[in-house]
Amino acid sequence: MTREELLAAIDKKYKDIGQDPDTHLSGLLHAKPMTYWDFIQVDALLGLQTQRTEHPDEMVFIMYHQINELIFKMILWEISQVAQATPITTQKFSMHLDRVSRYFDMLSQSFVIMGDGMEKEQFMKFRDTLTPGSGFQSAQYRKIEFASTELINLIDNRFRATIDRDTPFEHAYNHLYWQAAGKNYDTGDKTTLLNNFEKKYMEDFITFMKEYNTSNLWTKFKTLPKEDQQNDTLRNAMRHYDHTVNVSWVMAHLNAALKYIGDGTATGGSEWQKYMHPKYQKRIFFPDLWSEEELKNWGVTNLEGHE
Ligand code: HEM
Repeated sequence: MTREELLAAIDKKYKDIGQDPDTHLSGLLHAKPMTYWDFIQVDALLGLQTQRTEHPDEMVFIMYHQINELIFKMILWEISQVAQATPITTQKFSMHLDRVSRYFDMLSQSFVIMGDGMEKEQFMKFRDTLTPGSGFQSAQYRKIEFASTELINLIDNRFRATIDRDTPFEHAYNHLYWQAAGKNYDTGDKTTLLNNFEKKYMEDFITFMKEYNTSNLWTKFKTLPKEDQQNDTLRNAMRHYDHTVNVSWVMAHLNAALKYIGDGTATGGSEWQKYMHPKYQKRIFFPDLWSEEELKNWGVTNLEGHE
């Protein structure tokens, strides 16, 4: 664009919205030059790390969780672009899926920062200040699940037969697999972990579930041309993402928990040794892309080389 064209475009942009372009040009004249720290909001970002104890490794724990939340946000950002594109091309779908998958690879591969990056003695002390909170209460993690697959795949195995597409969302919500971490199914009672989580996020979750009911990654995949759905590269990319979230990450997380708390109690109070293993939860985003054998052995046999 030439200088004249640029000025004409600015002129038009502001006149179109009833604004005086000269005032905006004058604003530009007086504006401070941009800096890295203002653009990235570095001061705000680095002002968010507050320890509750004096154990230095608590800082590792806090910051790694914050990094996770930032990456979760990046993942949701990409999935939302898939959701909003109607119709979506295979090329666009694959591009965003690859981005999402790369981010989750990062989370899965870096989890060793939790397993090996803190002294157990320190961890066992500062974790008490977290009770009854838990990473279980990460809302973005739950949203990634809602945005990745159809609700039925997130329903507790034991109740899947009672739920179909006409089931009210509130009912489906109460039978999500993760309710098992804090619910007594005989009495219906929920733990503080779950009650606090729901008080803050349940309404937001129901809205989100409705929104992604027809625009989650799996439903979107099924709108692609049939021959593209059979494409090996795309299918393997889907399988890779599914396996990373639901087996690799889950195992890295479980192994870190085992290392620190062994057979002890979790801050969130779940029967976590049983609850967390992928072979019990059997959460699988894209079950149609796995063979019967692979589904049967989900989280049991090593699926290395599944790609
Ligand atoms: C040493 C580090 C960690 C330990 C020992 C640990 C332990 C646990 C335990 C025991 C649970 C079961 C719920 C309960 O508290 O009763 C849980 C759930 C969970 N944690 Fe962690 N965690 C760690 C790090 C992280 C990190 C870095 C994240 C990332 C945000 C995270 C996210 C989650 C999520 C999403 C759940 C729910 C998983 C599910 O429903 O299957 N955790 N964690």
